[in-house]
Amino acid sequence: MNITSAKELRALFLKFFEEKGHAVIPSASVIPENDPTVLFTTAGMHPLVPYLMGARHPMGTRLTDVQKCIRTGDIDEVGDASHCTFFEMLGNWSLGDYFKREAISWSWEFLTSPDWLGLDKDRLAFSVFAGDENAPRDEEAANLWREMGVKDDHIFYLPKKNNWWGPAGMSGPCGPDTEMFIITDKEPCGPDCSPACDCGRYLEIWNDVFMQYDKQADGSFLPLKQKNVDTGMGLERTIGVLTGAKSVYETDLFSDILAKIAELTGKKYGEDEETTRSFRIIADHLRTATIILGDVKGVTPSNVDQGYVLRRLIRRAVRHGMKIGLPENATADIAEVIVNQYKDVYPEIKEREAHVLEQLRLEEGRFQRTLKQGMREFEKLVSRLGENSQIDGASAFKLYDTYGFPVEITMEMAKERGLTVDEAGFEERFKQHQATSHAGAEQRFKGGLADHSVETARLHTATHLLHAALRKVLGDEVTQKGSNITAERLRFDFSFSRKMTKEEIAQVEQLVNEAIQAGAEITCEEMTVDEAKAQGAIGLFESKYGERVKVYTMGPFSKEICGGPHAGNTAELKSFKIKKEESSSAGVRRIKAVIGQ
Ligand code: ALA
Repeated sequence: MNITSAKELRALFLKFFEEKGHAVIPSASVIPENDPTVLFTTAGMHPLVPYLMGARHPMGTRLTDVQKCIRTGDIDEVGDASHCTFFEMLGNWSLGDYFKREAISWSWEFLTSPDWLGLDKDRLAFSVFAGDENAPRDEEAANLWREMGVKDDHIFYLPKKNNWWGPAGMSGPCGPDTEMFIITDKEPCGPDCSPACDCGRYLEIWNDVFMQYDKQADGSFLPLKQKNVDTGMGLERTIGVLTGAKSVYETDLFSDILAKIAELTGKKYGEDEETTRSFRIIADHLRTATIILGDVKGVTPSNVDQGYVLRRLIRRAVRHGMKIGLPENATADIAEVIVNQYKDVYPEIKEREAHVLEQLRLEEGRFQRTLKQGMREFEKLVSRLGENSQIDGASAFKLYDTYGFPVEITMEMAKERGLTVDEAGFEERFKQHQATSHAGAEQRFKGGLADHSVETARLHTATHLLHAALRKVLGDEVTQKGSNITAERLRFDFSFSRKMTKEEIAQVEQLVNEAIQAGAEITCEEMTVDEAKAQGAIGLFESKYGERVKVYTMGPFSKEICGGPHAGNTAELKSFKIKKEESSSAGVRRIKAVIGQ
């Protein structure tokens, strides 16, 4: 089939796997639930970890989806031909159902059959796990590719670095994978040219992970309760390859966005290298910012965690906008195009359009007010410095603190002038001024998956009881805006317009403690979203109409839609104490609380 757009590719992928008995599930939020180790959902497997570990998924054992993913580790590379901070991952899942044979033969069929992608078999290459002390060489996968008709010189055995999936260094589900590549027209870079080198001859488009191990905190590998398949096909990359685009930015995913930037600036995409880079950065960053703002878990720009990443994306887009003559307050105009592009795939973004545009206007306004002065300050600074010298920490901190320049932007501007920034000096000053360092946040999203430990489950249960108690004391307009759990505490953000009084805080604490003392058993039932609503369950109704969800009930105290996991009985929480009640952002309050040990 001749595929010309990302829209067609999404639809075709889901249709193929639906025909193979998979239930189509909607994308989960880009903000992970109860996972303190990552800021954003980085792969389709992320929201499905409990099910890979053996929990029953309400939609069955075969699933297929398009997941919104955010990876900002390479944010500084954005502007080249291939890097994006947001991407969509097409996936098919076996939760203890089929394994290597079906996964590989279906991947082959989808890629090569004329009814589906119809790719030329000779232009495909495959890598399989070479084996090491933890797991054997994957001859089974290699033999299955041979059965499909793949020749030996198109099969590559590669080590763990290339052919193993499961976030590095962390515990959780993982296993060997087999990756699928398009062979481009580029000549081999040498006799050892393989998918492992990044010369550009081999472009990865799909990855089938055979998840059968549970990596322990001590680095050992135990077999998982069940054997799973987790596959990921990057939509941006694949549509680029299928349409012969020179870069992901030359696909239909970016054409409207780039056209809007051209219209607003009067510049042409592709005009020169610098302009092209700024076009790409603005398009990529505003696309990601729009996706984050349009997500069900309303994150807004701030100086910590996801809010800081969001702020950095918007401000970097604004600075590059300034370079190419984008009028002030145009970020929202560009976001409108983005909302329209994604509204059919992720309806939540359209529902939140007004909020997305308002937040962009506010954040751009905040930055615009100091941007020009900050640039002048930067120029003054630079004029005092010689070539190859360094901007000191105090000056970088002043640009951050007084003019709102995220330090990464100062570093980028310094680099453009052949200068560097004393990062350590900046950090030192930053730490003196802030409790939470954004560098800590950075570290977190390089990390991997949380283990769903007992502690997390207990705090998660406390979050539900807190949510219910807040609604009792403050009223039903209280809704969850975010949740984050670390080993020590829970953090809960909710919509409420003013500071809580001492009495209200005491009342909420008391209600939660009563629920704990009641020793209510916690039960979980599966039902449709409508049934859940009819039963009065609260929670984020992010699921599609008719889809089955899990509802956790804690005696008469709480009923909430949620993926789990939870404690078995409220008594396991022992006690509950609110440590802090503060403002999180406009109209949103934040509570930090702990439970008994
Ligand atoms: N989880 C696998 C990946 O992200 C499919 O590549």
